[in-house]
Amino acid sequence: MNHTTIIRRPDDITDEMLIKVDEIIARRRGTQGSLIPVLQETQEVCGYLPVFIQEYIATGIGIPGSAVFGVVTFYSFFTMVPRGRHTVRVCMGTACFVKGANETLNRIQHEYNVEVGKTTEDRRFTIEAVRCLGACGLAPMTVIDDDTHRGMTSNKIIDVMNGYE
Ligand code: FES
Repeated sequence: MNHTTIIRRPDDITDEMLIKVDEIIARRRGTQGSLIPVLQETQEVCGYLPVFIQEYIATGIGIPGSAVFGVVTFYSFFTMVPRGRHTVRVCMGTACFVKGANETLNRIQHEYNVEVGKTTEDRRFTIEAVRCLGACGLAPMTVIDDDTHRGMTSNKIIDVMNGYE
């Protein structure tokens, strides 16, 4: 009996993306330690590493899919779920919390209809609640992508987030 599982290609993985992934694999094939750089570059192209892509890479490099899966799940910078174009990190450390970080987070969830740890349906934002970011003097603070925003109360946060398309 044939136990081969057909893994469906997610709708958001386009032909153009696969062509780029082919190029990434071709550039690194045969090089030792190429798996992690291949996965990093592929994640930049596809936004995440679904099982379909993991199998695609495994076949391309000529290693078992389980080896790829092991690496993807080991390193926290790899993700198997789609992320938003922007990552919003609301600091929930003590200094930020006492200045209303919780209300900020609630406002975001309500405004964009998204839960903490999840991505909005339009893939615009991924929302995270994080521990002290080490800049308590700026409390309450939120980091969007690489930008630090001080004094991010529930009144201000939506205006700021709307500056990110
Ligand atoms: S508690 Fe938010 S930066 Fe320290």
